[in-house]
Amino acid sequence: AQHPWKPLRYGDMRGPCPGLNTLASHGYLPRNGIASPSQIIAAVQEGYNMDPHFATFVTYLGHISNGNQVTDLLSIGGKSPNTGADPHTPASVSGLSTHTTFEGDASLSRVDLAHQFVAFSKKYGRGKYNLKVAGELRYHRIQQSIAENPNFTFVSPRYNTAYTESVFLINFFVDGRHYDGQLDMDVALGFFKDMRMPHDFHRAPKPIGGDGFDLVEAAHPILPGRNVAGVNTYQPDPTS
Ligand code: HEM
Ligand code: MG
Repeated sequence: AQHPWKPLRYGDMRGPCPGLNTLASHGYLPRNGIASPSQIIAAVQEGYNMDPHFATFVTYLGHISNGNQVTDLLSIGGKSPNTGADPHTPASVSGLSTHTTFEGDASLSRVDLAHQFVAFSKKYGRGKYNLKVAGELRYHRIQQSIAENPNFTFVSPRYNTAYTESVFLINFFVDGRHYDGQLDMDVALGFFKDMRMPHDFHRAPKPIGGDGFDLVEAAHPILPGRNVAGVNTYQPDPTS
């Protein structure tokens, strides 16, 4: 294939975005994980058929709110997306690692949360991840953060990106030849854990962005806000 998957080499960096990590592991992005905005905008179109305007918006949104970095976009968070045993991600790197636009609370699928992802897909999606599952899992992760994270903050832009990421899995990880909004678990876990596209993967049939995010939000509406004095003290803040 033109874009073979390759395992990490010593020094390769990855971040919290399964979409970008996978592009790097297939060589759509530099395999070392250090990419410029224009490389990212091109790669998400080539690999997933992300709408170019949406891709530009999302990429620069991340950059602007993180100090206008032009590199290290994938080297986010300092935590390996792998099993955690993988030492290839440095402890702390710049880029989108600051806790702002994208790297935010109530993440869906860090490897330690993969069991929740699978359990919710079983319970609400007959074993597939779909919009119904997205609505329930997103709400559950928010409630869990309110209950467990004294510093939980859920305001714009993270408020929006949280809902958008919930639908990225449906819009970009479902094979373009059977584009039915139902994501298989083995495919999902391949992206998340191995940063790997399925064999003979076909991207979305037409350019697409965050379609469906409003349905995820509408499943369990919650106003932007934050915990103000420890856990379970969530206060809506409609100005943010
Ligand atoms: C999460 C960046 C495109 C799928 C994230 C996160 C970042 C990020 C920083 C971490 C958010 C968090 O704290 O949970 C970007 C940038 C993109 C991009 C700059 C440029 C276009 C994509 C694409 C896909 C994708 C094309 C799918 C093919 C996801 C998913 C999550 C995520 C599913 C949620 C992961 C989780 O909650 O565990 N992205 N991303 N992203 N991204 Fe991307
Ligand atoms: Mg996070």
